[in-house]
Amino acid sequence: MIVSAPTDYRAAARRRLPPFLFHYIDGGAGAEDTLARNVADLAAVALRQRVLRDMSGLDLSTRLFGERLSMPVALGPVGLTGMYARRGEVQAAQAAAARGIAYTLSTVSVCAIEEVAPAVDRPIWFQLYVLRDRGFMRNALERAKAAGCTTLVFTVDMPVPGSRYRDAHSGMSGPWAAWRRYAQAVAHPRWAWDVGLLGRPHDLGNVSRYLGKPTGLEDYIGWLAANFDPSIAWRDLEWIREFWDGPMVVKGILEPGDARDAVKFGADGIVVSNHGGRQLDGTVSTARALPAIADAVKGEIAILADSGVRTGMDVLRMLALGADAVLLGRAYVYALAAAGRRGVEHVLELIDRELRVAMTLTGTRSIAGVDRGILAEPGPAAR
Ligand code: FNR
Repeated sequence: MIVSAPTDYRAAARRRLPPFLFHYIDGGAGAEDTLARNVADLAAVALRQRVLRDMSGLDLSTRLFGERLSMPVALGPVGLTGMYARRGEVQAAQAAAARGIAYTLSTVSVCAIEEVAPAVDRPIWFQLYVLRDRGFMRNALERAKAAGCTTLVFTVDMPVPGSRYRDAHSGMSGPWAAWRRYAQAVAHPRWAWDVGLLGRPHDLGNVSRYLGKPTGLEDYIGWLAANFDPSIAWRDLEWIREFWDGPMVVKGILEPGDARDAVKFGADGIVVSNHGGRQLDGTVSTARALPAIADAVKGEIAILADSGVRTGMDVLRMLALGADAVLLGRAYVYALAAAGRRGVEHVLELIDRELRVAMTLTGTRSIAGVDRGILAEPGPAAR
């Protein structure tokens, strides 16, 4: 299959992966309305074309939390990445480092912090969930610090897991799930050999090391679901601050009031995110939520945004709506599943190229120079 656009990787991933994994990545919560809105609302943001402005010397690089990024993009936290490609977290982190951008390791990664951090020549970011077991959280923070992780991404939009109906249909969960997954793996021999067999162990690396015993997919669905903590509150940020003195980013903000509270509680950044439509189905797209949040806190705190970003055009749109940088989720995971590290490097190269073209044709020479002026219809909702 010929991959020439970033979005081509979705179909490539679908061919490669057993369905329970493809649908776990691809799906969202409920009727998947928010998942669809994220992509559609971003695509509907129109840009103004400007010409004859001497666009030589274009610079895509930016600085975030004291680090240089070759473009305003980082790989966001994605659980179970080591199920999509062999030791997938290591491959993705290496691709990010090779392209000069940051990588965020999920709490629920297959490869532990201690496996990923030393495998790359650039410090990684670490994402933390609030779990009932505060001992686990403390242990994870200490280990992230010891491994040289620079930035902490604290995800706050999962006090309970969203209702992901596709998972039960696909065999990720539900009746006979283990048998169905096994049958699907057998029908996808390339994945079964490369990841299913050679990519073992399929532990939740960070959790296994803490519990001192092997864990697996059943634990992901069982232990973690039982461990998500509905009592999570702003005071937890203060608790985390006691154990983390580096940059701290709160991920899962959709309201200006919550963004203001993040500033008040000492966060260094926020991620405007609805978890890729995987949590509250029916909530607004991030493209719609972002402008009002930028009005409330721009300049006081770093604003990152995700959910629905698939192309370099989308990156520029998010910046124009008020983001300082963008996190990629599915956009890189599809590429990883289809072609490993090489696929992620390629999709990042394509996004870089698209961003270059888009900046040139909107007359923006630097990332700091991107603002609402390049939107065809500026306004709070940007539509
Ligand atoms: C996620 N996301 C996520 N977020 C997080 O904080 N911790 C995690 O472990 C995960 N796991 C995860 C798994 C999968 C398969 C997906 C697709 C997403 C959410 C992720 O960081 C990001 O917010 C979304 O992926 C952004 O939406 P798009 O760009 O994928 O549409």
